[in-house]
Amino acid sequence: MALVVDAVDLKKTYMLGKIPVEALRGVNLRVESGDFLSVLGPSGSGKSTLLNLIGCLDKPTEGKLLIDGVDVSTLNDNQLAYLRQRIGFVFQFFNLIPRFTARDNVELSMSIVGKSKSERRKRAEELLEIVGLKDRMDHKPAELSGGQQQRVAIARALANDPRFLLMDEPTGNIDSKTAKEIISLIKNLNEKGVTIIMVTHDQHLAREAKRTVQMFDGVISSDVVN
Ligand SMILES: Nc1ncnc2c1ncn2[C@@H]1O[C@H](COP(=O)(O)OP(=O)(O)O)[C@@H](O)[C@H]1O
Ligand SMILES: [Mg+2]
Repeated sequence: MALVVDAVDLKKTYMLGKIPVEALRGVNLRVESGDFLSVLGPSGSGKSTLLNLIGCLDKPTEGKLLIDGVDVSTLNDNQLAYLRQRIGFVFQFFNLIPRFTARDNVELSMSIVGKSKSERRKRAEELLEIVGLKDRMDHKPAELSGGQQQRVAIARALANDPRFLLMDEPTGNIDSKTAKEIISLIKNLNEKGVTIIMVTHDQHLAREAKRTVQMFDGVISSDVVN
């Protein structure tokens, strides 16, 4: 299996005024293509910081991050922007554009390189069908339930055929029954080959992943196959 993410001794220190906050204190993590891992840990343990680094939204203070074998610190701004497009993000608060329909939300995030308007539209519709929203494509976010909005966000994250999906508490803002449905969708995507890294604070949901990484105080304290 191909190594998609290889984090080597990642450290991240934020400065809070003059006070350094050590959010990550040496994280080593390898994720292979097709993996589905959950990241568990108490609030403040560094989960979001780790996800932001892996998603190339932020840079480590020390250590190395390789994506598909490429050290991201060697990339220029254009290359980094290109790489970011190939990473799918899903957040706790769905972050959809309110005045756009589900279809337009998905279509809009699609890279315009090499795709015509009609191809983008067709792809958006395919993705919405995959996430179970075939009959909701013309609805705006406010006309959808929380679970449905998260499905749109997942379709959007898949729009540019990402190398992997990063999910930060994807079920953190929906009820537990809907959360189970979302997890089964996520599992389903993984069975189709999508690589997934999912942060959660819910132990039950975490166990649905193939592998669970436990974070504590800026380090990985355990990494087990479920
Ligand atoms: N932008 C920031 N500036 C300063 N401190 C931060 C910033 N982001 C996160 N932190 C701190 O880093 C630590 C890890 O935060 P975070 O990665 O958000 O944890 P988690 O997602 O596990 O709750 C916490 O102590 C948090 O307060
Ligand atoms: Mg967090």
